[in-house]
Amino acid sequence: MLQNGPKCKNTSKKRILHLHQSIAMKRRSFLFFGGSLAAASSVQDAQAKWAFESFLNGNQSDMGSLHFEALRELFPLKSDRIFLNNGTMGITPYPVLHAVQNEYKNIAENAAYPAHNGSLEAALANIVGAKAHEIGITKNVSEGINHICWGIPLKKGDEVLMTTHEHVGGCAPWLHRAKLDGIVIKTFEIGSTAAETLNRFEKALTSKTRAFAIPHIPCTIGQILPIKEMCSIARSKNIISCVDGAHPLGMIEFNVKDLGCDYYAGCFHKWVLGPIGTGWLYINEERLSQTKITHVAAYSLDNFNMNQIPPMLSDPINKASRYSYGTFAGPLWVGAEKSLELYQKIGPKNIENQVKSLSGYLQEQLLAIGDGIQMLTPTEDISRGAQIGFKINTQKTKKENPNSGFVNHARSKGIILRHVAENGLDSIRISTHYYNTRNEIDQCVNLLKEYAFS
Ligand SMILES: Cc1ncc(COP(=O)(O)O)c(C=O)c1O
Repeated sequence: MLQNGPKCKNTSKKRILHLHQSIAMKRRSFLFFGGSLAAASSVQDAQAKWAFESFLNGNQSDMGSLHFEALRELFPLKSDRIFLNNGTMGITPYPVLHAVQNEYKNIAENAAYPAHNGSLEAALANIVGAKAHEIGITKNVSEGINHICWGIPLKKGDEVLMTTHEHVGGCAPWLHRAKLDGIVIKTFEIGSTAAETLNRFEKALTSKTRAFAIPHIPCTIGQILPIKEMCSIARSKNIISCVDGAHPLGMIEFNVKDLGCDYYAGCFHKWVLGPIGTGWLYINEERLSQTKITHVAAYSLDNFNMNQIPPMLSDPINKASRYSYGTFAGPLWVGAEKSLELYQKIGPKNIENQVKSLSGYLQEQLLAIGDGIQMLTPTEDISRGAQIGFKINTQKTKKENPNSGFVNHARSKGIILRHVAENGLDSIRISTHYYNTRNEIDQCVNLLKEYAFS
C-alpha cells in the first residue's frame, strides 16, 4: 500500500542491510530505468532511500512503503523550481530521458532504423482499453484533432458542437474547416457541475448537429467533463463524438470503450510524463473505414507500383497507425513507452488519488482566502481533476492586471503557473502532479496572499 504520511525515520539494522543489498542491485535498477542512479543518490532519508531503491529494483508489484515525495528524485528538475504547470507540459523523469538518449545513441552508433513495430500502440491500447489497431501515434494532440476533423464526413451547413473553453489546438482545426467547407460551429458554456454541463450540452444539440468536439478536461479551469454521458446521448442521436483528450492520460484512469467515444486525441507529453512532441489518436474500429485520410506515405498502405500503367496504390490499411506515416522520431516513441511503463509501475489509481488529493488541498487553501478570489473550478469531487482555475478579485486588490501579474511574479520567484488568456478568461491555472507537495502548494498560496492582498 502506498503511504501518504510523513517519512518514517526507521534506520534499523535490517533496513540498513537492505540499503547495502540494494546498492549491489543497482545494476538491475539501471537496466529497468535506463540509468536513473543519479536520481537516487540525493535521497537523504535512509528509509526513503531504501524504499526508493526497492521500487527501482522492480522486485515488488506496487510502491510498497514508498512515499510520493521520494519520487521527486525521479526528476532532474532543479530544486529551486516549483513546477505547477504540468497542464502545459510534463517534466521529464530520468527513466524517460535516459530511454530517449540511449535510443538516439543506438541509432548514431549502429545506424539502426527506428522500428515501427506496434509496441507503443499496444502498450497504450492496454492502458486506455482500446484495441492496438485503433491507436495511431502522432506528434501532439493538435495533430490528432486535425486528423479527426478532416477525416469525418461533414458537408456545408452541418453543425459541430463545442464549448467556449477550447484550447487553440482543440478549436482551430474545426474553425478552419468551417471557413473552408462551410460547416457551422456552435458553442455552449460549461456549467459549474457535471449535471449542469450535461444539461447545457443536451440543450445545445439541434437537428443539424453531426458531431461534437469537446475536451474531456478543458485547459482553462481543468474540470472533468461528463464525456461518457455526452457520448451516450450523441450515439443515440447518430452524432459523432470527438474528444480532445490532451489531459486525462497519466492524470485519471479512463477507458475509451467505457466512454463510448468515436475519436479521442491525446498525448504523452503532459500528465503521463513522456517526451515532448509525442501524441496519440484513438479511432473506434467501427469508424476506421469511414474516416478519410488525406496524407499518406510509408506505413499508411501496403503497396504501390509506379511501373504499372496507370501507377498503382493500394488502399490505406484499416489501422489507425496509417496516420503515422513516413520516417518518425523513433527514440521519442521509445521514451513514450518508458513513460507508460513508469506510470503503470507507480500505479494509475495511486497517481489519480495523489493528484486529486493535492488539487483538493490547493482548492481548500484558495477558498480559505474568501472573497479575495473567485474559484472557477467546481468543488464537487467528480468534476475535480488535477488543475484548479481561479481569478483574483479585482475589487479586493490594489494590483493592476492581478492574474497575469501574479503569474509573472511567481515565475520570478521560481514558481511556474499558467495565466489563462484564452477566450477572454484572464484567470490563473495551477496544476498539481504527483511530484508536487503540499509544502509547495503552501508556498504558492502564501506568495499569492502576499502579492495580492498585503
Ligand atoms: C485541452 C487541450 N487541447 C489541445 C491542446 C494542444 O495540445 P498539443 O500542444 O499537444 O497539440 C492542449 C495543450 O495544452 C490542451 O490543453
